[in-house]
Amino acid sequence: MKLRAVYPGTFDPVTNGHLDLIERSAALFDELIVAILKNTEKQPFFTVEERVEMLQTVVAEHANVSVTTFDGLLVDFVERRQAAVIVRGIRAVSDYEYELQMALMNRRLSSRVETVFMMPAETYSYLSSRLVREISQLGGSVRGLVPPIVEKRLRSKQRMLALERS
Ligand code: PNS
Repeated sequence: MKLRAVYPGTFDPVTNGHLDLIERSAALFDELIVAILKNTEKQPFFTVEERVEMLQTVVAEHANVSVTTFDGLLVDFVERRQAAVIVRGIRAVSDYEYELQMALMNRRLSSRVETVFMMPAETYSYLSSRLVREISQLGGSVRGLVPPIVEKRLRSKQRMLALERS
């Protein structure tokens, strides 16, 4: 039986830390579904369509990785896709409490789904989408922190926002 895993998240935007985790998971599982949460209360920086497009571009070379969106309960999506595993990244101890809470709640919701925690390369242990957005909004460089397509999209989004403000 094929081992299918889901890597869920907001990916606003995808960073090299996410990409590192995608590559590690793609090597470990037969199939990996990167699943972008559609409806968050937070106002996203990139639309869900933009995030799907950027992710599809960066995973294009991995034949066993697909990108999609989901809403509702994560475990329901995982079961619908007949996956057995949720992949989540843990960068530092500070991530652990939130991740543990989510993993245990998901286990309570479905005992058929297992959460697997993975660590990105230490170079990315301080990297987050939030910091990337902040640095980019304040005119700093995010080179090496995000894939080139994301760097480009961040720049054009900033230009668009600046034009709207002027
Ligand atoms: O990248 P993020 O924002 O940390 O990802 C959080 C995500 C999308 C994994 C989480 O918010 C989620 O699973 N949301 C779906 C709703 C759900 O199932 N909630 C119960 C989780 S215990």
